[in-house]
Amino acid sequence: MRDSFGSRFGVLVAMAGSAVGLGNLWRFPYLVGNNGGAAFILLYLFFIFLICLPLMFTEFIIGRRSQVNVFGAFNVLSNKKSHWGKIGLIAVLSSVTILSFYCVVGGWTIDYLVKSLTFQFSPQVDFVNMFNNSVSSTYRPLMFTGIFLLITAFVVVLGIKKGIEKYTKLMMPLLFVMVIVIAVRSLTLPGAGEGVRFLFMPDFSAITSETVLAALGQSFFSLSIGCGTIITYASYVKKNENIIKVSTYTALTDVLFAIIAGLAIMPAVFAFNTSPSEGPGLVFVVLPQIFSQLPLGGIFAIIFFFILFFAALTSSISLLEVAVAYVIEEFSFTRKKSVLIVFVIVLLLGGLCSLSQGELKSWTIGENTIFDFMDKLSANILLPLGGLLFVLFAGWKMSDEDYFDELTNGHLLKINRYFLLLIRYIVRYVSPIVVVIIMLYGLLK
Ligand code: TRP
Repeated sequence: MRDSFGSRFGVLVAMAGSAVGLGNLWRFPYLVGNNGGAAFILLYLFFIFLICLPLMFTEFIIGRRSQVNVFGAFNVLSNKKSHWGKIGLIAVLSSVTILSFYCVVGGWTIDYLVKSLTFQFSPQVDFVNMFNNSVSSTYRPLMFTGIFLLITAFVVVLGIKKGIEKYTKLMMPLLFVMVIVIAVRSLTLPGAGEGVRFLFMPDFSAITSETVLAALGQSFFSLSIGCGTIITYASYVKKNENIIKVSTYTALTDVLFAIIAGLAIMPAVFAFNTSPSEGPGLVFVVLPQIFSQLPLGGIFAIIFFFILFFAALTSSISLLEVAVAYVIEEFSFTRKKSVLIVFVIVLLLGGLCSLSQGELKSWTIGENTIFDFMDKLSANILLPLGGLLFVLFAGWKMSDEDYFDELTNGHLLKINRYFLLLIRYIVRYVSPIVVVIIMLYGLLK
């Protein structure tokens, strides 16, 4: 029999676990820093609620209605011979692309966890150097990338109930408590106010078409939508769960984590006179520096990198599951064998991403290293494209009756008619148009 989630709390925690990850704690702060602060956050929030939430309902509907992997889903819901099935392949491709650079950053978190456990963050250290040396050397980051991927694979081999559900249930609440502790510490630093202002006082002159595309990409990335993660998880969800509730809680949790992560990081950045536009190294350069100058900083550092590692893990699990479910169901392989196949592919790609920080820095694709290319390709192109195809499918190929039937659990849930119509309207017209315009402007500028 097909595996499924065992409890309502399990579903919620797995969804939230997938959403909350390096996207919130690593990618969000540095994008906010690079894109001028509060104005970027407002755009991000706007996209989350206008575009992403309805898209999340839609992915949920597609997954739970079809009860199969993301490739099979479109074949089950359309007729077998139509071209819609190919959407699923794009989704599998983008989950593999994301996982490739994601596991490299996951590896950095393990590296920094090890550094914090061995108390290497003393005030004399040059942290920019430390970061650059760590990520640009050849074997060490490769090894940590491999370890991170191996742990991810281990959880996914165990399956839904005994692996994914069990571990995320344990990690997520712990994570929440830990981030709050760090945020409180950061906010009580002298000079923290400047960071809070940066986070909440918008400067709209900082917005360009690229910023808008980056905000759209980040809102997709952060909610794990656009590459079939939600479709895949939803296929393991029972028919009596409330799609709107689970999705909304997930989105709210994700936004809350992003804001708290901002509050944990930005005030400290300003309190210690560092630049918010440090780039992908922001979290890894700024925070250890801060920890090194705080009483009990060593302990805070351990807690923080533990969080970062856990958060990354619950997300990478969900990315791996997309491709693994596809291989299991479309090629009839065992779960173990499927995990092994995807593991090898991602390890090779991830290895390239890792090496592109040092040894292979000169291998560029349009001025981007392989790592940056994979990051931008997935967040700014593949995810919006996937999301666009999902809403086009659900809005124009699926009938209104099917859409509403799944969303309301066969009309058992009483949901306001106008609300339902609004969702349908957004999915059919608003999301496709907005996404296309932003992608064109952002990419062609
Ligand atoms: N949302 C996760 C994060 O914020 C990453 C992630 C997991 C993801 N699954 C995804 C991103 C699917 C895009 C698509 O770290």
